Amino acid sequence: MKPRTILYTGKGGVGKTSVAAATARRCAAAGQRTIVLSTDPAHSLADSLETAVGSEPTQVGDRLWAQQVQAQEELERHWSAVQGWLGGLFVDQGVDRIAAEELTVPPGGDELFSLLQLKRHVDDGSWDVVIVDCAPTGETLRLLSFPDVARWWLEKVFGRERQLLAAARPIARTFFDVTLPDERVFGEVQRLVENLIAMNEILRDREAVSIRLVMSPDRMVVAEAMRTFTYLSLYGYLTDAVVVNRVFPEEVGGYFGAWREVQREQLELVESGFAPVPVLRAPYFEQEVVGPAMLDRLGAALFDGADAGAVLYDTLAQELSLDGDGARLRLELPFAEKGDISLKKIGLELVVRVDGQKRTIILPPALAPYRPSSASFSDGALLVSFSE
Ligand SMILES: Nc1ncnc2c1ncn2[C@@H]1O[C@H](COP(=O)(O)OP(=O)(O)OP(=O)(O)O)[C@@H](O)[C@H]1O
Ligand SMILES: [Mg+2]
Repeated sequence: MKPRTILYTGKGGVGKTSVAAATARRCAAAGQRTIVLSTDPAHSLADSLETAVGSEPTQVGDRLWAQQVQAQEELERHWSAVQGWLGGLFVDQGVDRIAAEELTVPPGGDELFSLLQLKRHVDDGSWDVVIVDCAPTGETLRLLSFPDVARWWLEKVFGRERQLLAAARPIARTFFDVTLPDERVFGEVQRLVENLIAMNEILRDREAVSIRLVMSPDRMVVAEAMRTFTYLSLYGYLTDAVVVNRVFPEEVGGYFGAWREVQREQLELVESGFAPVPVLRAPYFEQEVVGPAMLDRLGAALFDGADAGAVLYDTLAQELSLDGDGARLRLELPFAEKGDISLKKIGLELVVRVDGQKRTIILPPALAPYRPSSASFSDGALLVSFSE
């Protein structure tokens, strides 16, 4: 059995770590062997759980383990030969040693290597639930979305070329004074690509794996979450719930009146932009969410008696496919009857109205020059075609 895997992501400071820890505690309390790991280099899982957490799985409660993955350790495990070779190459070119070291890690690489721990836990077979507290952006998940490119690259570089390189190595050393990568370097790169392909497959397994977007009801935060949502759907990753954290309760009083009004608008936008994906909410508590008791309060508010580990929604709400001369967007609108459809595109925002339901979708920048050209409704889904 593959473990149920939930990845929490969202902008900085919105409550990812708190929500991840609260979910893990609930799953463990419900009898499931649970691990919560953070791949964010700025770890706060230990603070949140109020207990020591190591770089390997550390038991922190009944059926509950936590792990703060150390990017540096993962980097050494997966990338030391490449770093050695590339670093030497840069230094030979006159780059100073410290800068050279920085350059040997691809952007987003730190978190990527950390995220490979997820593969280990999925393969391991000892967990019912794996929860990941990701770094602030969905960047890394985006990096994992190109298995076809990776596959192509693997064949190119490790097909014929590998033998060619082996033959060229002594010549390169003698005549050009450059060192071609050795077998260890190739080995690491090849393993990385294989891992990326495997990770992509793990993340696209919609029966077991889903992503939950955490946000606060603030304009910029919601807008970014909507963009991430579109990208994730685009790559075939399932978002089974979104979390709106830090909602001002009714009783905050007049001083926060204007804030509450903004939050109310943003909550409406969230409901319309992510529907039919369930929206979980938690109030702005009167104190920090730290330690087991507060985490359990947060968990109770979010899940309200429901199973925190369940797949809360199981279809891709949006699918976008690009082809030679246009794009097609498929939107689930399960509650709409065949009726009046109106579309409005303002910049990258697409506002769809069907039978009084309004949905706002933030499109990827690649669609900027496109206009919606037709729309049709079938099988509870709206299909919109775009052309230039
Ligand atoms: N609903 C809430 N009410 C009050 N305080 C909260 C709430 N949710 C989170 N907090 C507090 O807000 C702070 C940030 O939360 P948290 O660390 O979970 O966010 P994060 O998204 O993981 O941040 P980062 O991007 O820095 O990793 C913490 O001090 C936490 O205790
Ligand atoms: Mg955090």
